[in-house]
Amino acid sequence: MTKTLLVTGGGGVGKTTVSAALGVTAARAGIRTLVVTVDPARRLADALGVEELGTEPTPHPTETNLWAAMLDSSASWAAIARRHADPSVAERLVDNKFFVAATGHFPASQSYAAAEEAVNFIDAKAWELVVVDTPPSAGGIEFFTAPKQMTELVGGRLLRWLTGGRLPGRRFFFDRTARPALRIADQVLGAGLFEQVAEFLMDFRTTYDGVAHRSREIEQHFQAATTLVVTTADPSPIREAVRFFRELPGFAQRPSAVIFNRTLPDDWIDARPGRVEPELAENLRRWGAEAARQMEFRSEFANRYMTELTTIAWRSTPPTDLDALADMISSSEGFDLTKLVR
Ligand SMILES: Nc1ncnc2c1ncn2[C@@H]1O[C@H](COP(=O)(O)OP(=O)(O)O)[C@@H](O)[C@H]1O
Ligand SMILES: [Mg+2]
Repeated sequence: MTKTLLVTGGGGVGKTTVSAALGVTAARAGIRTLVVTVDPARRLADALGVEELGTEPTPHPTETNLWAAMLDSSASWAAIARRHADPSVAERLVDNKFFVAATGHFPASQSYAAAEEAVNFIDAKAWELVVVDTPPSAGGIEFFTAPKQMTELVGGRLLRWLTGGRLPGRRFFFDRTARPALRIADQVLGAGLFEQVAEFLMDFRTTYDGVAHRSREIEQHFQAATTLVVTTADPSPIREAVRFFRELPGFAQRPSAVIFNRTLPDDWIDARPGRVEPELAENLRRWGAEAARQMEFRSEFANRYMTELTTIAWRSTPPTDLDALADMISSSEGFDLTKLVR
């Protein structure tokens, strides 16, 4: 069975880096691993030291057992339309500018597209472990609510009202009555706009059964997956991390661990500088106070949410090669992250 690790958390906390690090750790433990990212910033490719990352999983040039893929959510959308609509309808949808606009601007769409693609890789059963780096736009918990939101968008009241409940009959009705009326309106306005909107809504609606079915399957995969929340000690990612304990939808499991990334070393707290300039001593005292605040905060967090907690230290040079990535996991403190990849 393929094990899935979902790496989530607020923006910029180190999700892509931690995903890559866990991938390298697992691969080096002899586990066939795929790391999937949606990060368009090429960070995963850079961190792993591979030139090009495509939507198809590619084996790492030097690390056996390690594969990586970067999902392109706009390409994923076309794939979703092709999967869930009849071929002719799908082609029309992909070309329809309202489809492009709706899928590009609906916040859950990037997450849904990513989740669907990631689940395809899990279902392929070609890897023992799939590490999913969740998309930057999701802001964390939205990744888990995206399938439901997608189902609601496609099958929602607005769309049902506009396109009617039973499709085949409604389509006939549309062709006979509404389309000619819209054509007249379009002739007056000269843009072909109404007909295109109506066409889009009608076509989009035909994907409902497929999307609803796939959404349930995605939720089942989420239920079976291990979730890791990455955060730093800053207020905004902390707020995001807290949401995983308060608002996670019922089907999803509680996060298995919270990773405090870029933490300051505990031994800064009572570092006693020797004879140094007063300004420098003052500076060191301030950093020590910040390290103490972070440590106190972490233990408070662990107590309040009764969760496993691990820390990854802040590095003066961000990890840029496989050894540095692996070292991030092996030198992490607290909960043993390597347990999770097995
Ligand atoms: N422990 C760390 N120490 C120093 N820099 C780090 C650490 N973890 C991540 N970084 C750096 O922080 C930046 C953001 O990390 P990234 O993984 O892209 O975050 P996210 O995917 O959550 O947006 C990157 O430049 C990365 O190299
Ligand atoms: Mg990222």
